[in-house]
Amino acid sequence: MPTPPRRASEIRESFLSFFEARGHRRVPSAPVVPAGDPTLLFTNSGMVPFKRVFLGEETRDYSRATSSQKCIRASGKHNDLENVGRTPIHHTFFEMLGNFSFGDYFKEEAIEWAWELLTDVWQIPPERLVVSVFRDDDEAYGLWQDRIGVPAEKIFRLGEEENFWSMGDTGPCGPCTEVHYDRGARADHTCDPSCDCGRWSELWNLVFMQFNRGASGEMTPLPRPCVDTGAGLERNASVLQGVESDYDTDVFRPLLERAQELSGVSLGETEDKDVSLRVVADHARSVAFMLADGILPSNEGRGYVLRRILRRAARHGVLLGLEEPFLYRVSDTSIDELGDAFPELRERRAYILERVRREEERFLETLGKGLGVLEDEVRALRARQGTELSGEVVFRLYDTFGFPVDLTEDILRGDGLSVDHAGFETSMAEQRARGRAAWKGSGQQSVGEVYARIAADVAVEFRGYEGLQLGSAIRALLVDGVPAQNAAAGDPVEVVTEETPFYPESGGQVGDRGSIQTASGRIQVEDTRKPVDGLVVHVGRVVEGEIHVDEPAELEVEAARRAGAIRHHTGTHLLHAALREVLGPQAVQRGSLVAPDRLRFDFTHDAPVSPQELERIEDLVNGWIEDNVPRREESMGYPEALAAGAVAMFGEKYGDEVRVISFGDFSKELCGGTHAATTGEVGLLKVVAEGGVASGVRRVEALSGRDALERWRSQERTLERTAHLLRSPVSELTTRIEKLLDERRTLERDLEALRAGQRREASGDLVTRAREVGGHRVLATRVEGVEGKQLRAMVDDLRARLGSGIVLLAAPREGGVSLALGVTPDLVKRFPAGRLIREVAAVVGGKGGGRPDFAQAGGNDPSRLEEAFSRLDALVEAG
Ligand code: SER
Repeated sequence: MPTPPRRASEIRESFLSFFEARGHRRVPSAPVVPAGDPTLLFTNSGMVPFKRVFLGEETRDYSRATSSQKCIRASGKHNDLENVGRTPIHHTFFEMLGNFSFGDYFKEEAIEWAWELLTDVWQIPPERLVVSVFRDDDEAYGLWQDRIGVPAEKIFRLGEEENFWSMGDTGPCGPCTEVHYDRGARADHTCDPSCDCGRWSELWNLVFMQFNRGASGEMTPLPRPCVDTGAGLERNASVLQGVESDYDTDVFRPLLERAQELSGVSLGETEDKDVSLRVVADHARSVAFMLADGILPSNEGRGYVLRRILRRAARHGVLLGLEEPFLYRVSDTSIDELGDAFPELRERRAYILERVRREEERFLETLGKGLGVLEDEVRALRARQGTELSGEVVFRLYDTFGFPVDLTEDILRGDGLSVDHAGFETSMAEQRARGRAAWKGSGQQSVGEVYARIAADVAVEFRGYEGLQLGSAIRALLVDGVPAQNAAAGDPVEVVTEETPFYPESGGQVGDRGSIQTASGRIQVEDTRKPVDGLVVHVGRVVEGEIHVDEPAELEVEAARRAGAIRHHTGTHLLHAALREVLGPQAVQRGSLVAPDRLRFDFTHDAPVSPQELERIEDLVNGWIEDNVPRREESMGYPEALAAGAVAMFGEKYGDEVRVISFGDFSKELCGGTHAATTGEVGLLKVVAEGGVASGVRRVEALSGRDALERWRSQERTLERTAHLLRSPVSELTTRIEKLLDERRTLERDLEALRAGQRREASGDLVTRAREVGGHRVLATRVEGVEGKQLRAMVDDLRARLGSGIVLLAAPREGGVSLALGVTPDLVKRFPAGRLIREVAAVVGGKGGGRPDFAQAGGNDPSRLEEAFSRLDALVEAG
């Protein structure tokens, strides 16, 4: 007879091949996040990925399946978190071996195969096994007794609690029968397998799936009865390896060894330390699997479960004397152990470990202080002889130090104290109410608060210096400025991800654009901003599908735009250096804009920069570009950077640690922007404008690389078009234009002479129309097609011809009439032109005025011109 499997990996393989040989399809484990099932946070058993098949909502091309499913039991109906480390069999992560029948075989085969595998293949002595059945399942009872031959005293009828299994509060469920390993009775204690004294180890749970439980608890029969069998790999390993506890198997031993090595604490020193070591070993596995399947620590849902587990492990680390992040090292060992069976762990190893380490680091910043506060509170509580920690303190630990309630509870449990849950909920509700009140206040402030809250939760890592693309996860969403869990096509959104290659607008450099793609949707990013320190917000619109918080996402920056910004940013540094060299060290940056296609640079200087100076500046910059000098990048303290001669921008805030960008010995600046690897990438730099913006502040605008070339081209096109229009080679254009201007001046002179002649002729005719009024010569008439300057020239001309008298010309024009009135010098005292024209203009609905000898007016009613002329006559007559 072949030897039974011993190692966990052998047991897994033996199980899967046993059922494969019996017509089952070997199905790979589904992720720990159930796909499209909002009723469940985690895959908590082997049947979860098949839920829809049980319900008859989905069919597969097989009716028997076997798998080793990754399970998390740390929330909801199946939550083993509290027991982890304290019992031999509870884990937040474990593997469940399963065989499933979708309306295919039922009780008989399921029971026979379970027994065959356990006792035949695995050779577990049948006398150590007992079974339980649902209280009135006589069929199962009969099968165990008659077919298998289990004696009646080893078959237990148990109730709902033990032998009716359901996935969650809703979903497929049914009566079950279990196989337990009996570790031996204690003299003073008799019990059945429902007892958790440690005597019984449930090796196998065989569920006869027959119902679907609805939201209101009603049970509807499934279309076809199914079988769902689950056998915890770790428990079975403990029996096959002949050890007392799962933690003594090869599954946990390497992890416990690693934890002992890191902490210097050995198993067996004290029970408390053993618990801590076991908690660390357990949690190291679950966090690795959760991260591998795309969950990230957060303050909600799955992310919060992950955070709670991680923090609990960190605190047990402290109990073991570990003050530095350590869990990631234990997770590393778990990846060594399980990477063959679950390759996703190995593929994402670096990512997983980095995440665990970062989250540990963050929590360690507040953990020590929080524990101090808790100790003081416990002391005070003891002094009062209390046993329950007030909700308000529990809330403060949660809010200020990041202590999940169950962590505080876990700590207190050791001291026999408890937590005032209701009080905690009240404090929490009060804070929410305060948040809502602030939200309704000034828009500006509340958005600021939202950003601050997000920043407190997510430390976004900017990775845009390294590349333009990366995979991360969506951590927060605002739709129309309001926090949301989801966004749909068309929504204007602000998106925060765990990491980002997108450069947020700062230091003059514009924010990146690009796209964020998730499994279900796509966002077009139109701008990237940094509203508060440590937060990067992608601003854009959902252009396809839907976006959800906590989803994995692929981020990609628009490369051409970034490349342009890089060229112009490095160009700005070179320009700044050249300005200082040519104009003197007082030429300090006051502001700048680094766009993908241009740059603008303001600096202190109190005179215009002469064309010669500008040329020297351009020559210097382009010399450095030709030298193709590599960039140097250093991080140092602010004072050291200044001492090293780095230029800081006037009025800018810098952190303690600054980034210094240098090129050769000519440019060294404090800068967080993105830069060319060598100056040569700038290509060319050309100043295109220089001017003053405020007293003592000048501005230059410049173009680099292809934008300078494009500008050159467009100017060349203008020049060529001009040359074409003037029918002249470009080289002779100036001569040609000077000649044309000369010709134009001659033509204008000739034209004016011609016009004067014409006017004289016209006036000659008109002068005959003068009449005698009150002893004076008055010429009042309409003229057609004459305007402005010409009208005035005609009045002058006619006045001269009259010798003594008054001339009024009225020239109708679009929508009205222009009037011009001249008085000969001898009459200006009696008849000032300004007075006459005011009165006359009034008749045609207008106003006017002027000097005593000449006045002009406009009116809007040419039909009353004759009346206006009569008015003039009357005025002259009245003398
Ligand atoms: N669903 C059952 C369990 O989890 C059997 O797989 O125990």
